[in-house]
Order: sequence, then C-alpha cells, then structure tokens
Amino acid sequence: MVHGLYIHIPFCERRCHYCDFNTYEGMTDLAPDYAAAVSADIAARAGEGLRAAPGGLRSVYFGGGTPSLLEAGLLLDLLDSARETFGLAPDAEVTLEANPSTADAGKFRALRRGGFNRISMGFQAAQDRHLEALGRVHRVADSERAWDLARQAGFEDMSLDLMFGLPKQSLPEWEASLDWALERGPEHLSFYGLTVERGTRFHALAARGELPLPGEGEQAGMYEEGIRRVEGAGLAQYEISNFALPGREAVHNRLYWENLPTLGVGAGAWSFVDGVRSGRLRGPAAYIAAVTSGRDPVAESERLEGREARAEEATLALRMNRGLDLGRWAAARGDFLVEFGAALAPAFRAGCLEREGGFLRLTPRGRLLSNEVFLALL
Ligand SMILES: C[S@@+](CC[C@H](N)C(=O)[O-])C[C@H]1O[C@@H](n2cnc3c(N)ncnc32)[C@H](O)[C@@H]1O
Ligand code: SF4
Repeated sequence: MVHGLYIHIPFCERRCHYCDFNTYEGMTDLAPDYAAAVSADIAARAGEGLRAAPGGLRSVYFGGGTPSLLEAGLLLDLLDSARETFGLAPDAEVTLEANPSTADAGKFRALRRGGFNRISMGFQAAQDRHLEALGRVHRVADSERAWDLARQAGFEDMSLDLMFGLPKQSLPEWEASLDWALERGPEHLSFYGLTVERGTRFHALAARGELPLPGEGEQAGMYEEGIRRVEGAGLAQYEISNFALPGREAVHNRLYWENLPTLGVGAGAWSFVDGVRSGRLRGPAAYIAAVTSGRDPVAESERLEGREARAEEATLALRMNRGLDLGRWAAARGDFLVEFGAALAPAFRAGCLEREGGFLRLTPRGRLLSNEVFLALL
C-alpha cells in the first residue's frame, strides 16, 4: 500500500556545476520511450498487487532532473497512468519540478487543465553572476517570466528553491535573493546551503582550492537570516529547509518525513514499500531496457529493521519543526529516550535538542547542526 508516487525524469539541458542528481544531458530523444517505460513500470507494480492506500494517492510528484523539459502530452500520459492504475485522492497534490528556462505558457496551461496543481521552480539566486557561476541555464529575468506564466496558467500553489553559501556570495546578496523571491508571493519556499558533492565540477574546483565559499560562521548567519526573512513574510518553517503559508506544506515532503510508504518510478528513483527501501537502475537506457523486457528495474534494496529502522524514522521526524511525538512513539515502539537518550546526550548538552509538550525537537541551533545530531543517532 502506498500513499504517494514519485516519478523521476532524468534529463537536463545542461548539468549544473554543483549537481549530483541522477540526471543526463543530451538524452531528451529518449523521452517518449522513457515515458512509456515509466507507465509500464507503474502497471507492472499494480500487476504484482501494489495498491494505493484507501482514498487514493495523496501526492504525485514529478522530480528530476528537469520534468518540465518533457512535452505536456508525455507528462499528462504519465499522470493518467498514475490516476488509472492507483486512483488519486480528490485533493491529491500533483507537483511538477520546473526549471525557469523551460517555461512555456501553452505547456503550463495544458498541465494545469490536465490535473497538475503545484509547481516547484528552481530559482537559486537573484544575481545573474551567481546563476552563471552555478552553471544554471536560466537567468533572473527567465525566473520572473516563468513564475508569471505559471500564475497566469492558473497555478495557485507554487514553490521556489534558493541556495545560499555560494562561491563569493555576500550576506547582502543572499538577503537580496530572499527579498526578490518573497516579492513573487510563493505559497512555499525551500532554501539549501550549498553542499559540494563528489564528482561535480565544484568538487574538482574545491580540491584545487579554487572554490571561494563563505566561511562557516557566515553560512550560519545566512541560514538564520533566511529563516528570519521568510518567516517575516508569513511562511512558517516546518522543516530544516522548508517554509510554507498555513496549510501549504508540501504533501510529498510530509509523506517522506513521516516515513509513509511511497513508490518511486523512473531511473534511479527510490521507493519505500513494506519496510523495504529500494532503488531503480540509474541509467535511463538500462531502465527502459529492463522495464520493456519485463525485468524488475530494481537495482538495490534493503530491509530496514530493528534499531536501524527506528533511528532512520527518528531522523526523518526530527527534520520537521513539530519534532518527534514521544507518546505516539512509545505506544508503537517503546520509550524513545530509553533507547536513544545516551546517544543524544551530547546533542542535549550542546543545546541542539529540546523536549517540550510531549515532543522531542531540534532547537534553532540544532537545525543548523542537524547533520551532527543525526550522525549521533545513526
Ligand atoms: C531536486 S533538486 C532539483 C530541482 C530542479 N532540477 C532545478 O535544479 O531547478 C531541488 C533543489 O535542491 C537544491 N540543490 C541541488 N543540489 C544541491 C547542492 N549540491 N547543494 C545544495 N542544494 C542543492 C537546489 O535548490 C534545487 O533546486
Ligand atoms: S537543473 Fe536541477 S537536476 Fe538538472 S543539473 Fe541543474 S540542479 Fe541538477
């Protein structure tokens, strides 16, 4: 039984210099075969007996890569497959991740009419020089245009992503990015501190000492200023990197952080079904070949059990500002602090965790240092 469906679209016009997602340049010719394979993958899972939770899927999320590169017809075919195979809840959230470079009025209108009701756009920064340094294909004016086109097409639930801690980024520039983003009036906003991932161009530059990133203290200041400004605009923080107007928290994100079963289809997509976490073949051509010849496209899987499963679930719950419900946890799995109290004692002492009203949660300092807290738990 699954509550949500994630559909991975592994194509991009060009790879950004910081990105280590499962995505490929110059492969969009594969898109029609790829979409057919994803539909077949969905049908095969239903053929094996997989069903949506009662009431239908609560979320269908097209992530990437750049889903907005695909023709509207292919995206709508995929949504139809999900709808016909699993059924959608009447208020299901249907999200498209979009790159501003791909904005197209006709495409947005067709998607809105066909049942997409949420768009998440990668803005990243309000300065062209930063977009260029990141290797983004769009510029600030494209972001503004894309946003307006999506609004005109009838999207009333829109999110945008920003990044901070960029090479040579100053605090005033970050503040300007936040203010510019908030002027667009998003219902939801995510921001992330740049992570230098192995295998990326930024990683190679950093290894040569050629990636001048802001210092740790400056990055912490940027994170704190980000929270202040976004919350000042009425979007409450509900997770380490995510903010929303009341009632606009992303259903897709919440399913994941609440550790509810979801099916992920497409190259490299992750699923969590019946206590098993599994990942599909990462190469688009290998994925298409496997699905079309009736083979299982899963490349790796792991059953999470015992303490490991509980620790994983706890880190997901602690990412959210509401925190971990100690009473609910005790009813299902025993006393959380008896099992994990010793491991978390240093985090309590460092002022990273607090216990209040039956919940255990990260403090603002804990959200800044969340990786260290989670490492102690895992
Ligand atoms: C699923 S990703 C990709 C969305 C979309 N493909 C795009 O780039 O516009 C969502 C967000 O994660 C963030 N992100 C991706 N790689 C990152 C990295 N190495 N460090 C920090 N944030 C990153 C970006 O803000 C990005 O918009
Ligand atoms: S557009 Fe998004 S997925 Fe594609 S390369 Fe850039 S960050 Fe990665």
